[in-house]
Amino acid sequence: MQLRFLGHAALHLTTGSSHLYIDPYLSANPAAPEGALDLPCEFILLSHYHSDHLGDTVALAKRHGATVLTTNEIAAALAKEGVEAVGMHIGGKKDFAFGSLKLVLAQHGSGIAGGQAAGFVIGAEGKKIYFAGDTALYSDMKLLKQLWGPIDLALLPIGSHYTMDAHDAQVAVEWIDPSFVIPIHYNTFPGISADGEAFKRAVESTGRSHVVLLAPGATFDL
Ligand code: NI
Ligand code: MN
Repeated sequence: MQLRFLGHAALHLTTGSSHLYIDPYLSANPAAPEGALDLPCEFILLSHYHSDHLGDTVALAKRHGATVLTTNEIAAALAKEGVEAVGMHIGGKKDFAFGSLKLVLAQHGSGIAGGQAAGFVIGAEGKKIYFAGDTALYSDMKLLKQLWGPIDLALLPIGSHYTMDAHDAQVAVEWIDPSFVIPIHYNTFPGISADGEAFKRAVESTGRSHVVLLAPGATFDL
């Protein structure tokens, strides 16, 4: 499968014949690459309702007839806008055309009344991807590997201010023990600056996980 980084926490995933956006904050995203809005999609995964994640979700879902997979409260809000959305919740898992999706806790505001921010564990082509969403470090991250087996790729925020910083993300990597780590949610705008190279050096000094630094528009094949 192929993952394309679209700046900030926005991603596009191709697995088999399926295409997904994750948190498609694109038209207002100062880090989004050229053409970020023009990729195919049948699904959109939305971790929470903050504007730097919701982004172009509604417009993309309508243009492509895509289904949004998110938490229940957000799915209800999107349905009112005429978007097809599946409302899941933390701990729930469901199979879709691209593979499986499990919603996991994110320690963060949801951006919507009564809601809960989520992270995702995506299973496809025999691989597991953990997309942390916006979250603080929390000790239940230790359970990811224990409950669902090895994590091949972890996407972790490192920008601080709204989420964990690079130091805490380094602890998360130790607990999750993924083969690959891609840092996200940093250097998009002032206030969430972080040194990706320093994070890479620190993580890789342990001799376990590899850190992949993706420029916006760059892809990673898993
Ligand atoms: Ni947020
Ligand atoms: Mn955010």
